[in-house]
Amino acid sequence: MPTNDALRDYLKTRRSVGTGFLHEPGPNAAELDELLTIATRVPDHTKIVPWRLVLFEGAARERVGDLLAAIASQRNPALDAASLEIERRGFMPAPLIVGVIFSPRPSPKAPELEQLLSAGNVCFNLVNAAFALGFAASWVTRWYAFDPEAQQMLGARAGERFVGFVHIGSTDVKPEDRPRPLLESVVTRWNG
Ligand SMILES: Cc1cc2nc3c(=O)[nH]c(=O)nc-3n(C[C@H](O)[C@H](O)[C@H](O)COP(=O)(O)O)c2cc1C
Repeated sequence: MPTNDALRDYLKTRRSVGTGFLHEPGPNAAELDELLTIATRVPDHTKIVPWRLVLFEGAARERVGDLLAAIASQRNPALDAASLEIERRGFMPAPLIVGVIFSPRPSPKAPELEQLLSAGNVCFNLVNAAFALGFAASWVTRWYAFDPEAQQMLGARAGERFVGFVHIGSTDVKPEDRPRPLLESVVTRWNG
């Protein structure tokens, strides 16, 4: 196999861009199709596709923000106006948010953990696909990935849960790198 220098450079330097730094334009229809095609090309033991995607675009992002703020204020009636506004803007300002739902299937061969890992791969592949197409992205969960009522409102069915919301858009920033683990702190060699 020849080396793939562009891929290597990307992998050695890639960084997520925080959700607050993403703006219009987002992917057009053809770019979105390509982005989702790349993102869903992930390892998946026995090809059971234990995940699905929900797109949040345009005015849906504001409607979802209103509903999230309503649930947040039920959970904590003491929330002040500024905190509620943060909830209302939870799916802003990125033009596209892709919710990744883990949808486990009964399988004699692929334990649930493997299926969950496959769903996590879709999240990270969405980030990588976004950068491949010239956009920037960030994978977040936030409280609503852990709140059953919010998850249902966002599109999860019984037995399913969100494993990520990948915010995608254009950006003007290039974040500095963050500290990465030293290899010697995370790698050992098995000696029996
Ligand atoms: C499963 C998962 C959930 C995350 N949820 C959040 C979150 O809710 N809020 C947040 O600020 N960052 C969250 N992050 C971290 C972001 O992805 C952050 O952008 C990441 O640490 C940047 O790493 P990178 O520059 O190596 O891509 C989460 C990361 C993962 C893997």
